[in-house]
Amino acid sequence: MPAPMPPAPSARAFYDSEYHFAEDVDRPNPERLWHALRPLEPLAGTTLLDLGCGVGWATRLVADRGRVARAVGLDFSRTALTLAARHSSGRAGAPIDWVCGDGTALPFPDAVFDRAFSFGSMEHFPDVRSGFTEVARVLRPSGLAVTVVPNFYVRTGQPVEHRDTLAGWRRIIESAGLTVTGAWGDPGPAIWKNRRPLRLALRLGLRAIGVLPLLRYQFVIRMRKR
Ligand SMILES: C[S@@+](CC[C@H](N)C(=O)[O-])C[C@H]1O[C@@H](n2cnc3c(N)ncnc32)[C@H](O)[C@@H]1O
Repeated sequence: MPAPMPPAPSARAFYDSEYHFAEDVDRPNPERLWHALRPLEPLAGTTLLDLGCGVGWATRLVADRGRVARAVGLDFSRTALTLAARHSSGRAGAPIDWVCGDGTALPFPDAVFDRAFSFGSMEHFPDVRSGFTEVARVLRPSGLAVTVVPNFYVRTGQPVEHRDTLAGWRRIIESAGLTVTGAWGDPGPAIWKNRRPLRLALRLGLRAIGVLPLLRYQFVIRMRKR
């Protein structure tokens, strides 16, 4: 089988210098994240990987509210990880390791995590399927994972963006050695995220069409290792 394509340097440079991580630090949306994390329960006492963690909101949430034993936030952007670490200093929850690495070639041995989570990140990997193959590899035999990935019509302007229907995502995941055990909707960004009229109208429109299950903004997909 050919080796997965590594991320293009330009993709990493985009996240390091152009992506809105500073805005992400200021505007967490913990209830939206928790809605996606809940299918991974029970979380207490587990070891969890947050894949493409950005500034680390989900990683901190599982460490604090989820009471995991240990959380690892992995991202290939040093800018994201610097903000994640800075924003986590002095907190009292479970230990968090911030790891710089490529989501399609994870720097971990086989079968070391009980849980894996990824919010809005795997669709940006240069080879989406190998991201899921890596999740299957690092999960323990009874391990569970959740990924939150976009519907076919979503565009966010990031360098690589795989969009698909729920059936399409399911096919990719199942071909990577994982079994899908549930799928839910993610409503998308908060309507009041910023008040630019065009953006506001777009988010209202997305909420309206997202009441139809197959037209949801993103899918929260739970899977287990086969
Ligand atoms: C849309 S952001 C989501 C960040 C975070 N999960 C959140 O919800 O705020 C996508 C993230 O994926 C990371 N990413 C993209 N391609 C990656 C790759 N090949 N390996 C690791 N991280 C990657 C980016 O650096 C960025 O932090």
